[in-house]
Amino acid sequence: MTNYDIRKDFSILNNQNIAYLDSGATTQKPKQVIEAVDNYYDSANANPHRGAYKLSIKATEVYDEARQKVCDFINSNSPEEIVFTRNATESINLIAYSYGLNNLKQNDKIVLSIMEHHSNLVPWQYVSKKTGASLEYMYLNQDGEIPLEEINNKIVPGVKIVGITHVSNVLGTINPVKEIAKKAHSVGAIVVVDASQSAPHIKVDVKDLDADFLVFSGHKMLSPLGIGVLYGKKELLEKMPPFLYGGDMIEYVYEQSATYAPVPTKFEAGTQNVGGAVGLSSAIDYLNNIGMENVEKIEKELISYAMEKLSELDFVSVYGPKDLNKHAGVISFNVNGVHPHDVSSILDSLGVCIRSGNHCAQPLLRYMGLDSTCRASFYIYNTKEDVDRLIVALLKTKEIFAKWIK
Ligand code: ALA
Repeated sequence: MTNYDIRKDFSILNNQNIAYLDSGATTQKPKQVIEAVDNYYDSANANPHRGAYKLSIKATEVYDEARQKVCDFINSNSPEEIVFTRNATESINLIAYSYGLNNLKQNDKIVLSIMEHHSNLVPWQYVSKKTGASLEYMYLNQDGEIPLEEINNKIVPGVKIVGITHVSNVLGTINPVKEIAKKAHSVGAIVVVDASQSAPHIKVDVKDLDADFLVFSGHKMLSPLGIGVLYGKKELLEKMPPFLYGGDMIEYVYEQSATYAPVPTKFEAGTQNVGGAVGLSSAIDYLNNIGMENVEKIEKELISYAMEKLSELDFVSVYGPKDLNKHAGVISFNVNGVHPHDVSSILDSLGVCIRSGNHCAQPLLRYMGLDSTCRASFYIYNTKEDVDRLIVALLKTKEIFAKWIK
């Protein structure tokens, strides 16, 4: 299956004739996912886990099937290790509140990479302030990669938590998570992997990575907004207290106390987002049908074509790894002398959708000495023609801003 075949399933792209290059922010949804969600509400909607009637049992079944689907997709040992959340941010907050606040103390260390999205950074600032643990960062080389010696120098005895994004949402860097996890475990730390920009794009195997926790959002991988995943090793999840308290996460409730349901239900208080889980399950089917190797291949071709074309524009600076084996489908760049918001507006007027700004990664941008960048992020429905439209639009930007271009 090619990206041209895949694109036909995304009517929004065809109806609006846009080059959508902002899948790092959220992806478009194929008709199969939209239909699966519609069909759920048409034929199986009820409150799961609560009713003894057929429709409620059906809703429970599809919810459980979705959990199994996610479990298989990331090669987890058991669906009990999969907690549904709203998104990756909520998943990381769950880990920070439930694991971080209860396991860290004064003089412990939290180590993050400087390229973390705010969602894998701000919750750890909170944990650091509350527990007295220090917060340190692994910095990058010129190519936007974390050098091995930085990993070895920062992940040392005393470190209890290492937070690492699998793929940078700004630079596209694919981080050596497996090696980082190995190093973290050797000093007794656990690893929290932000897979928001990797799970949709490359094969993610929690056992192979040996991640203790791994999180991602459904909406960045073809499913509806509002469904996210927290993977956690069962022995860790079992020891952690709940994050949210209320309906369904309990076993017995007395006037002054309560006992809690086993994992993962312990972490899913309130009525679950079954429609979202159905959408995610259908998105996984869609990706499995294409094959994750093929997803990677399509994106690799696009990224190498885009990098080649961008390198021909002498008024454009491109950031991130030069080695395309370390580069996923996200490219940050600037038109020298022109503010990214202006670039983005001109591109929009030509039907090219990119993101501009700090990409929820202010510490990274500051470290790079920048305020903001333009970002083009690719997915399976993008084509070389989308890249060509980006290039034409950048040439037009150059024409309009001729006086300012450096
Ligand atoms: N985290 C999303 C992005 O990188 C919103 O654009």
